[in-house]
Amino acid sequence: MSNFWNELPCPFTILAPMENVTDYVFREVVSTYLPKPDVIFTEFTNIEALTSEGFEKTIPRLKFSEKQKPIVAQIWGTKPDAFYKSAQLIQKLKFDGIDINMGCPVREVVKSGAGAAMINNPSLVKEIIAAVKKGADKLPISIKTRLGDTPAMTTEWFTFLLEQKIDAFTIHGRTAKQMSKGNANWEEIKKAVRIRNKIAPETLIIGNGDVESYSQILDFQKKYNVDGVMIGRGIFKNPWVFNHIPQKHTEEDYIGILLKHMKLNQKENTSPKAFEPMKKFFKMYINNFKGASILRQKLMETKDFTQARKLLET
Ligand SMILES: Cc1cc2nc3c(=O)[nH]c(=O)nc-3n(C[C@H](O)[C@H](O)[C@H](O)COP(=O)(O)O)c2cc1C
Repeated sequence: MSNFWNELPCPFTILAPMENVTDYVFREVVSTYLPKPDVIFTEFTNIEALTSEGFEKTIPRLKFSEKQKPIVAQIWGTKPDAFYKSAQLIQKLKFDGIDINMGCPVREVVKSGAGAAMINNPSLVKEIIAAVKKGADKLPISIKTRLGDTPAMTTEWFTFLLEQKIDAFTIHGRTAKQMSKGNANWEEIKKAVRIRNKIAPETLIIGNGDVESYSQILDFQKKYNVDGVMIGRGIFKNPWVFNHIPQKHTEEDYIGILLKHMKLNQKENTSPKAFEPMKKFFKMYINNFKGASILRQKLMETKDFTQARKLLET
């Protein structure tokens, strides 16, 4: 079994899975025009949708290009059989790895027993891991989770998880109840690393939460002994966040990337509805230069790609 996790530098960097953000087009932008992290994750994909009539609508979430590799498909759900079938499919699609979401705190997800609700359901976790391992017997398996449900239960949760023989864990340093509030607790992540060192030294631990630069990645790796660091929202503040050497970027750089992103988006999504979701990226690219806020305001008022392009090119 080839295991890309064992071929990464230390510390390695990962672009976090982000629903409605890290879609095919954004992953392509990051892999082509921006400093690329060592690993990229897809947005989370629901296994029940993937293995039912919802298939046609869901499968585009798992589109990727060679440039995006190594790429990990993240999945979520509750039914072991659907996990098994989805894992088979993900292996067939030639992803490099498969990640199980056990950390999403969104109400509908938790209510269905998935995401962060798994933290309180170790017997289902065991069944799901077994199903994924059986379905994708040639792929490494990782889990992305949190410190606990309401209070942090790092020792109990990670002692259990580390006994399950998983290749890598991403630990978002918050509890499910915290959602994105408060600061990520990296001391608790370090606690999980200590448990890992005793129980499963071969398992990689990726720290996640509030990291915004490569120098912070280096700092945190030393301080908390993680093997890798995952960045999510940091890329909104700085699209070049994975650059090892910080650089100043001009208005032309920012606008240039946005124009490329829009072009790729139009190529992928011919529906006129594709423009509105693009707007969430305006804040990310039209930022950090003189006059950005006025330009962004005007851009938000545009109605389609042609209008937006015209404004950006004048
Ligand atoms: C818009 C958005 C969508 C997200 N979608 C997912 C997801 O699909 N799967 C997942 O595991 N985490 C998801 N997350 C959580 C992030 O992956 C990450 O754990 C969290 O944002 C903390 O890291 P950060 O401080 O670097 O952003 C999402 C976060 C945001 C902001």
